[in-house]
Amino acid sequence: MPEGDLKSSTETRFCEIIPGMVHIDPFTIVIFGGSGDLSKRKLLPTLYHIYIEEDLPDDFSIIGFASTERTDAQYRELIKKALQEFSTDPLDKERWEKFSSHLYYISGGFEDEESYKRLSTKLEDITPPTGKEKKEIIYYMAVQPRYFPEIIKRLSVCNLCKGAFNTRLIIEKPFGRDRKSAIELNRTIADAFDEDQVYRIDHYLGKETVQNIIFFRFANSIFEPLWNRKYIDHVQITVAEDIGVEERARFYENTGVVRDIIQNHMLQLVALVAMEPPVGFEADFIRNEKVKIYNSIRDMDNDYIDNFTVCGQYGEGDINGTGVQGYRSEEGVAPDSTTPTFIAAKLFIDNWRWAGVPFYIRAGKRLKKRITEISIHFKQPPLRLFGSACDSIEPNALILGIQPHEEISIDFGVKHPGSGNRLYPVDMNFSYEEDLNYEPHPAYERLLIDCMRGDKTLFARQDGIEAMWSIVDPMIKAWGERPVPELPNYAAGTWGPEKADELIEKDSRKWRIK
Ligand SMILES: NC(=O)c1ccc[n+]([C@@H]2O[C@H](COP(=O)([O-])OP(=O)(O)OC[C@H]3O[C@@H](n4cnc5c(N)ncnc54)[C@H](OP(=O)(O)O)[C@@H]3O)[C@@H](O)[C@H]2O)c1
Repeated sequence: MPEGDLKSSTETRFCEIIPGMVHIDPFTIVIFGGSGDLSKRKLLPTLYHIYIEEDLPDDFSIIGFASTERTDAQYRELIKKALQEFSTDPLDKERWEKFSSHLYYISGGFEDEESYKRLSTKLEDITPPTGKEKKEIIYYMAVQPRYFPEIIKRLSVCNLCKGAFNTRLIIEKPFGRDRKSAIELNRTIADAFDEDQVYRIDHYLGKETVQNIIFFRFANSIFEPLWNRKYIDHVQITVAEDIGVEERARFYENTGVVRDIIQNHMLQLVALVAMEPPVGFEADFIRNEKVKIYNSIRDMDNDYIDNFTVCGQYGEGDINGTGVQGYRSEEGVAPDSTTPTFIAAKLFIDNWRWAGVPFYIRAGKRLKKRITEISIHFKQPPLRLFGSACDSIEPNALILGIQPHEEISIDFGVKHPGSGNRLYPVDMNFSYEEDLNYEPHPAYERLLIDCMRGDKTLFARQDGIEAMWSIVDPMIKAWGERPVPELPNYAAGTWGPEKADELIEKDSRKWRIK
């Protein structure tokens, strides 16, 4: 167990916030799309990992549901190959045989009611009793979003949502294409499930450093008093990928950077940095505070979009010494595509804490390197005290590294040794990897375990999803109606279009990562 490692390496005394919630009842998880890419790459390797970490109850079952005809034995073979390719855990014979005995398969179309009847029978047969009135079932929607409504309606018609079983529904992003479709999807879900049965997954929230933002802010008295407009000059958040669209061109053409990153991951990060202290560490208390932030982000009209947002698309360029093609030349992308692969924006959170403090956000593909980082930039103290030579010193910054390195550092100034009064920039650093011997593990692990425990803290709520769409819809609409004429406007391997630099530099600030 990683936590065990931490304990032995640091002899840390843990403060368990929710010790009562660790028990997991016997359950069955039905993975719609159990043979697809997400299932093979992420879900089954994660379930296998949780299994060998002994975090699963002895009695559990996994049912893959997909259209291709297969027997249970053939499904087990398919998953064995997937684990050999994608699992980070060794697949030894004894473990695999035990794990695979929990795997089952239902072949059937999502639109075919008969398949759901077979599913119902199978669930009755194989789901272990829990000692409670109803057996525990988790449905995981690892399917293209167009199938979400169909599957949910069929589950409801076949009385598989609230009737015979105690059920939970995990839904993958993208959750809608805009606010309107998200509301429709939420209605379809609400007809079949209660909100407390629904787990809208954003795998970013499963990352240790993302969860740590709440701990860091609210468990340390030295930061929170400074966490406001009085001391903070501005905040920067960068979510940069160096990869292009890979094999996901069709998906990406339909999605673009705003739907892919901003509507979900980025706004989650903004909310965690900006939210007020929740009343307690319960899911709804935290989610209430996040929604307040979404509702405080200033609405974007066309003037705002022209002045405070930058849209980009990569052209050919160079990543780490290797020449790469531009977005429009990627297989599956239209040669005149106007899909944005980059965005920079300046957000304002119009509430008491943040009035006048800009949040500069930036996300894109084929940028110089893969990095996700939040930096909190503090105001400059009156440095004239030390003489005019100190005017140009960098103000303090607190940096929360999310990936690839999970770390926290603080930039500050010290007196340089010697007879002169010279201020010298240094930093203090905490690294999960180095200081706690922590190896990042897949975000899905934490999220799946949380769902099994019934802990919804890291999952998005219906009103939060709709509020996030309200923020980004105007941008998507404006860029769709009057696409930026100069696309592509940045070379792969750079930090995006020049206008992204101008956006922040005209405020006499600059991007921290360059
Ligand atoms: N792939 C990733 O890394 C990733 C990451 C984040 C989020 N997601 C999200 O996860 C979801 C699934 O993505 P994916 O990449 O895994 O998709 P995928 O590879 O296309 O898999 C689709 C699955 O659904 C089954 N299926 C498709 N049509 C069906 C039908 N009419 N009836 C029954 N089964 C059907 C397929 O099985 P058959 O071929 O047997 O029909 C397959 O098991 C999407 O919402 C995606 O946005 C994926």
